[in-house]
Amino acid sequence: MHNIIVFGPPGSGKGTQSQNIVDKYALSHFSSGDMLRSEIAKGSSCGKKVERLMAGGNLVPDDIVLKMALKYAVNRKAGNGVVFDGFPRTLLQAELLDKHLARKKLDIALVLAINITEEEIYERIMGRSSHSGRPDDTPEIIEHRIQVYLDITYPVIEYYKQQNKLAWVSGMAPVDTVFGRICSVIETCFPALAGNG
Ligand code: AP5
Repeated sequence: MHNIIVFGPPGSGKGTQSQNIVDKYALSHFSSGDMLRSEIAKGSSCGKKVERLMAGGNLVPDDIVLKMALKYAVNRKAGNGVVFDGFPRTLLQAELLDKHLARKKLDIALVLAINITEEEIYERIMGRSSHSGRPDDTPEIIEHRIQVYLDITYPVIEYYKQQNKLAWVSGMAPVDTVFGRICSVIETCFPALAGNG
């Protein structure tokens, strides 16, 4: 089982690269952002609770996200592992994910942290804002999302650094180039995956 976290600021390419990893290595994809947006689209009680927070670029409370994420992990029976995209985003989420996986004799094998500049974040997110339908894709909310990332999410890096699981990848290149960098990290960590794709 190869459980991988794709970590990074808004617009760094977490969703794009997670999908590439999933397709190439036959893993499954858990995106906390997509899952929350689908709750909003369904009009569920959970969706109603989180809609305003997400539109404002704030984190959704840990209990809501953890319930969804751990349920996803529990319901998965087989397969090669999970790519966690945008989760965990707080220290508590990281600790409880580890605890939960340990109960099933599993762990996080690798954390890929994608690094891009602030200018590139604005350019990419504003580039998709006309068709994303996301209320958080505005310059003011992007600024707030970056600040939330720096204040709350970025410090989680230290947790994984101490576990020797962290690999930085520069996201400052076209999608395929970044994916090539990611593949070489993955295949160095898991040589058995090198034949895929
Ligand atoms: P989430 O959906 O995770 O959004 P985000 O972190 O703000 O990230 P984005 O989706 O904007 O970008 P990305 O890094 O996935 O990049 P992408 O591949 O899309 O979270 C949204 C909200 O949900 C949060 O603010 C919070 O409210 C809530 N939430 C989610 N998870 C939570 C959690 N665990 N705890 C609490 N709250 C949570 O790419 C962006 C754009 O750039 C695309 O147009 C793409 O085509 C383009 N692009 C990608 N790579 C490249 C490249 N190399 N070159 C040029 N363009 C590129």
